Order: sequence, then C-alpha cells, then structure tokens
Amino acid sequence: MASTRRANEVGGWLVQVMDLPRDRQAEYIARHCGDPQVRAAAIAELSDMTGLAATVGIHKHNLAQLFGSADAEMAGLDADSLTADPPAPGVVLRDPNTGRLRWEILGERHGGMSLLYFGVDMEEDQPFVAKTYPRAVFNEIPQLAREFSQESKVWLGIPPYPHIAVVHGVEVIGGRPYLFMNYYPQGDLSAHLGLPEQKDRLPGIISSALHICDGLNHAYRHGVIAHRDIKPANCLIHWRGAIALADFGIAKPAGNGLDLHAGYGTPEYLAPEHWEPGAPADQRADVYALGATLYEMITARTVFGSRPETTKDELKRCHATAPVPIVSDQPHWLNDVLQQCLHKDKSARFQTIQSVREALARGQSQLTGWQDLGPLPG
Ligand SMILES: Nc1ncnc2c1ncn2[C@@H]1O[C@H](COP(=O)(O)OP(=O)(O)O)[C@@H](O)[C@H]1O
Ligand SMILES: [Mg+2]
Repeated sequence: MASTRRANEVGGWLVQVMDLPRDRQAEYIARHCGDPQVRAAAIAELSDMTGLAATVGIHKHNLAQLFGSADAEMAGLDADSLTADPPAPGVVLRDPNTGRLRWEILGERHGGMSLLYFGVDMEEDQPFVAKTYPRAVFNEIPQLAREFSQESKVWLGIPPYPHIAVVHGVEVIGGRPYLFMNYYPQGDLSAHLGLPEQKDRLPGIISSALHICDGLNHAYRHGVIAHRDIKPANCLIHWRGAIALADFGIAKPAGNGLDLHAGYGTPEYLAPEHWEPGAPADQRADVYALGATLYEMITARTVFGSRPETTKDELKRCHATAPVPIVSDQPHWLNDVLQQCLHKDKSARFQTIQSVREALARGQSQLTGWQDLGPLPG
C-alpha cells in the first residue's frame, strides 16, 4: 500500500536523524532526502516528534515503532520475545534506559485484545499500568506491532487533559513494547453501572457524559478524527467520579495516519453505518456510541439489551432497524438527546460532540439549576 510505504520511508528518515543535534536534523533531511513528498512529510513529522520526544522521553528505537516500521529488529522488538510467554506477576521489569530493575508487576488483566500489567514503579514509588499484547496477538507481527505503535502515537500526541487518561510513553523491554500510563484504582465505568449511586443520580450521570464530550473534543483538537470505541469500559474513573477516556487502540488519526481499523468497534455501541468497512468514521460514530453509553448509564442495560447469547447479526439488525426504547421516568429532553444521538441515519444525528454537549448542559441546568461552566481549558 502506498501510504504504508510512505510511512515507512518517513519513519526511516526520522530514525536516521535522531542521533544528530536537534538543529541539524531538518537540514540533514532537506539536503539528503531525494523524494520531495517524503522530504516534506519527514520534516513536518520531525517537528511534531521532537516536541513529543522531549515531553515523553521517546527513544530512537521507539520512533521506528511509532512510524510503523515493518522491521521489528530496527524497532528494538524481538520476534522471539513477542511470541514467548509474557512476564507473569512477580517479575520486575528492567528500565532499558538505566539498566535498573524498576517496575514490579503485581497483577495482570486481559482486555479485549490487550494485556495490562498493574504494579509499582519502584523508582518513583508509585503505581503504574503498562499495556502490551499477549503472545497470541503478537504472533501476527509486524501488523500488531504497528497497531500498538499507532495507539501509542495517537494517545501520546494528545496534550494532557483531565478527561483523557494519562499516558507517559512507550518502552521496549526485553523485546516487547509497553505503553505506560497512570493507574486509575476505581477502574472503568462499566463496573459502576446500575449501582444505586449511579442510577439515582441523574446529574452525576450527565456530568460523566459531559466529561466524555470534553475529553473527545480535546482529542479532536489534537489529531483524532474519531475515537471509535466509546463505551463504559473505556471510560476510566478518577477523583470524585470524573471520567478519563482511555483506549485509543482503534482511534482514527488525522492526516495520513494509517487507518488500520476501518469497520471496527464494539457491537453494542457501533453505529449502523460502521458494521461494514468502508464508511469513513467521523464524530458521528462517537455521537452514536456516546448515546449508547449514556443509555446504559441511565438504565444499566445496553440500548438493545444484548445478552451473552445475542448474536452479532441480531445486534446488527437492531442497530439498523429497531427503535431506540424510550426510557420511562426520565425527562423528555433526555429522551430527545438519546434519540438524536442514536438516530439510524447519521445525517439526522447530532453532527458534532459539541452539539451533544450543549444539549446535555442545557438539560443539566434545567435539572439542577447549575450554571454550565463549560469545558475545562486544555
Ligand atoms: N490505567 C488504567 N488503570 C486502571 N484500569 C485500567 C487502566 N487501563 C485500562 N484499565 C482496565 O483495563 C481494561 C482494558 O484496557 P483497554 O486499554 O481498554 O484495552 P483493550 O484494548 O483490551 O480494551 C479497561 O476496560 C479498564 O477496565
Ligand atoms: Mg478497551
């Protein structure tokens, strides 16, 4: 694919210049890179990457990953390590930058595809979470190493914001890449649904939905076209119930980033137009998924009430044709918001997350008398 080749070429040039002094890097590419398009793209990426590298301490071997090199060796990845058993709790990971033992793994959790380690950063005396993939997934190298690098690049490219989960950087340890992030001890929103304190507190639920909107709008301002996997399990909870968005594993990046995941998402939250690959994702996919998430926060049921035995085809049909149930005992405006988020026809939905935000903030004011203070500055 031409765009993959281009990404590799750009990445190759960047890896080549990372050892040069900062002020000579762009000049070196300008002088030596023959292809004008690759040259322009490499210089543009360089200014992005040097900012990024400075803030999160990205190293040369990570860069190759971030740019999707198919050359696992160059990226510091080691095919044998990736397909070997991953570390088990009890193991202490060595910091590749200092050579010292640093991250003690105390627990692990298998996500949809990923493998998450929880433990203590002995250097900082703080908890850490590191995301990697299990062996079976990495067997598909180099595609998977690329997907991992894409998530890291998208997520790390978003400047810090209270409603985006904090990620620190990628480290390749023993040939395996890890994305390090803050630990959110309260876990994700899915574990809190239907609990009395969630169910009886509509203002709290609306606040959480507003946090999701604000996190998304911040991501959109910084290189994300659509998150594409908004759902309770990807909303981490931090202080006082505030939401921090996580899992940019299938987010669609702006620019010429590789769209590896057209047609993916989580069935319960997936807009009808995205069940087949092809329709380019935009904010309206997130509007739909936010509607499904809000519905679930209010009712503790997914919008089409899926049970373990519900087939994917049934869900697909529901999203395409079944009416969205009216939620009884809830204000009229809230049902309107749900219906407009979950409209089958994307052109009849809210067209932006910002317009959902405005409708929710108006409703929140009606409900509580609170004045909307607007999103936190980012
Ligand atoms: N930083 C974190 N702190 C606490 N729990 C987390 C953190 N990151 C992820 N989790 C938990 O692990 C689950 C899977 O992580 P996620 O990044 O969404 O990976 P996947 O791609 O497997 O869905 C999340 O739904 C959440 O419950
Ligand atoms: Mg997830």
